[in-house]
Amino acid sequence: MSNIAVMGLQWGDEGKGKIVDLLATDADVIVRFQGGANAGHTIIVGDKKFILHLIPSGILHADKICLIGNGVVLDPFSFVEELRLLQATGIHTDGRLFVSAHCNLALPYHKLVDEVEERERGDGSIGTTLRGIGPAYRDKVARVGVRLVDIFNDRLIREKFDQQKTLKERYLALAPDDNRADMRANLELLLSLRNVFAPMMCDTSAKLAELNARGKSILFEGAQGAMLDVDLGTYPFTTSSNTTVGGALTGLGIGPRMITEVVGVVKAYSTRVGGGPFPTELKDDLGDSLRNIGGEFGSTTGRPRRTGWLDLVGLRHACRINGVDKIAVTKLDVLDSFQRLSICVAYELDGHRLTELPLDVTHLERVKPIYEIFEGWRAETTGFTEFSRLPSAAQRYVRFIADSLGVGVKLVSTGAERTETILV
Ligand code: GDP
Ligand code: IMO
Ligand code: MG
Repeated sequence: MSNIAVMGLQWGDEGKGKIVDLLATDADVIVRFQGGANAGHTIIVGDKKFILHLIPSGILHADKICLIGNGVVLDPFSFVEELRLLQATGIHTDGRLFVSAHCNLALPYHKLVDEVEERERGDGSIGTTLRGIGPAYRDKVARVGVRLVDIFNDRLIREKFDQQKTLKERYLALAPDDNRADMRANLELLLSLRNVFAPMMCDTSAKLAELNARGKSILFEGAQGAMLDVDLGTYPFTTSSNTTVGGALTGLGIGPRMITEVVGVVKAYSTRVGGGPFPTELKDDLGDSLRNIGGEFGSTTGRPRRTGWLDLVGLRHACRINGVDKIAVTKLDVLDSFQRLSICVAYELDGHRLTELPLDVTHLERVKPIYEIFEGWRAETTGFTEFSRLPSAAQRYVRFIADSLGVGVKLVSTGAERTETILV
């Protein structure tokens, strides 16, 4: 029995949704454990496109159990909207979707705070998704957050909302006519969701332990990517959760040995959305080509993603902090038409060669990538399903990445659909 953790190794949007949906075929249970509705995981099945923000990507398989762990900051309104969209396409979730009672909630006032703070940061803005993620995690760590289970406790939930009203006074006053500032209305709306959450709420730790003991195979769905990890990423240009494998342990209440394999998802080039350093960024025609061919526009916010070459310095760091066993290389097909490809193997900073990320993140703004150049294959690979059929230059490109990282290749993705995959 294998319990695979699927982790993004770059700045998010590596194609985790597609990989999780694919691997879900062989799993019984699919779980989310961190992040919130900032995630946008795209899954394409036939002519249908699903973008999931909170509900695990395994939900499209009719017989799978899906679970949202305590580490997720749950936006209950976004969750209900997602449920309705799924139900409208005939996907039923009754009896197979569970949410931890201990999820902290990301509420409308968190979005308002997110927006005000981003505005106030000015040129130094993080470029957040404005989903209230930072403010919700901040409340959690400050021990003033509202948890899912609290909505079933009349006295407690009202006390917590009163406390929030005081704590958020400055922000609420800045937007008096904004619906999100109407604490009383938002509390009533939240309480109206009790019926939705009552049958789904559980102790995810106990539930997972029981499923695991019964031999069920568990798939862990990471959100965001290693470089956005609040401890180990390009802080402060990160999200507010642990997007690396440790986040799965605390975000679900499991021990490390429940995970039997860590698969890191690597897009064949790099993208980043929002602010922060990006050493291999291409601000020229090549970057535009990557964006247009790769369809690099945010799944959650629609923003154009910044694009650039692959960065092995960042990826080595990402593999180490996740204990990656194998990688899944995605969007190889996007590189089909490029004459030459570059992979950053090290940085240069003030005349020194660096093979690790600099300690001071502001130095990452100044590093110059040292590239190894590869001939492009200039042939179609879309939909390929056999590694040996790939052009030899494409095989070399993938092998070079895996060998440089010292990990195996689990699969290569050659298109957005489930079937467009090479299992290595
Ligand atoms: P996630 O956040 O990591 O799940 O990734 P997103 O869904 O935000 O972005 C990945 C995008 O690439 C989506 O539009 C996917 O449909 C698409 N995609 C995933 N794998 C491939 C692939 O191998 N080739 C191509 N061309 N598109 C892919
Ligand atoms: P998935 O799961 C890409 C980025 C934002 C911003 C920073 C902080 O689809 O890979 P936040 O709203 O979390 O406070 O924003 O993190 N970000 C993502 N970028 N993919 C994501 O998720 C992201 N979630 C957050 O753009 O730079
Ligand atoms: Mg995404």
